[in-house]
Amino acid sequence: MDGLDWIEVIIRVDIGKHREWIHNRNIKSNMWKIIFYSNIILLNMNLIDLMYKRRSTRKFSDEEISKEDLELILESALLAPTAMNRKPCEFIVVSNKKTLKELSESKDMGAKLIAGANKAIVVIADGNLADTWVEDSSIALTHMHLMATELDIGSCWVQVHLKTKGDQDCEDVVRDILNLDSHYRIVGILAFGHSNKTPRPYTPEDIDKSKIRYID
Ligand SMILES: Cc1cc2nc3c(=O)[nH]c(=O)nc-3n(C[C@H](O)[C@H](O)[C@H](O)COP(=O)(O)O)c2cc1C
Repeated sequence: MDGLDWIEVIIRVDIGKHREWIHNRNIKSNMWKIIFYSNIILLNMNLIDLMYKRRSTRKFSDEEISKEDLELILESALLAPTAMNRKPCEFIVVSNKKTLKELSESKDMGAKLIAGANKAIVVIADGNLADTWVEDSSIALTHMHLMATELDIGSCWVQVHLKTKGDQDCEDVVRDILNLDSHYRIVGILAFGHSNKTPRPYTPEDIDKSKIRYID
């Protein structure tokens, strides 16, 4: 350490056999502050650990999402692959409580949580640009959901496509709220915010390996 008594660094390594220990302690961040003193402790999460940690969060605190975190979530969406690289998706960030409330009432069931979120990102896609708008939007939503998890931000996917509000199509309702042209298709919304109400991380016992078939 050349003259330094101690130094703090952020470091990433494979937690490997420590995964169970991490799960048991419900440790949330995958960034570990390492203190070099006389001992060195190395811990970190890799992608599979992040996937075990990812859950749908529906209760949020009033704490503001930082500009840096929001930008990382949006960056993750822009990094999502799209069929033939057509990039039909656009992302509308909603922060004002009035619009969040309106979105929370945009379908019969399952959207109420948006009202309590700090922000929501509505994923819209130009249906004329790509017939894969469902797939492309879904991957972008998944990237953002995982990025939020990485940042210890709770989030939940709210489905719009194929849902209704009374006799109205939910996509029409959301397009009206956001004043969008009808060529924009809407798969869903990611609602997010800080939370201490995120369900426990999954463990290896939660995954159903009978869903896998191997063929020769
Ligand atoms: C395509 C899709 C649509 C979803 N729509 C909603 C929704 O409208 N409202 C909601 O509260 N949760 C919604 N969810 C979250 C699921 O309910 C949740 O992922 C599932 O119950 C598993 O829980 P977990 O995410 O904590 O693993 C949706 C998830 C997906 C993948």
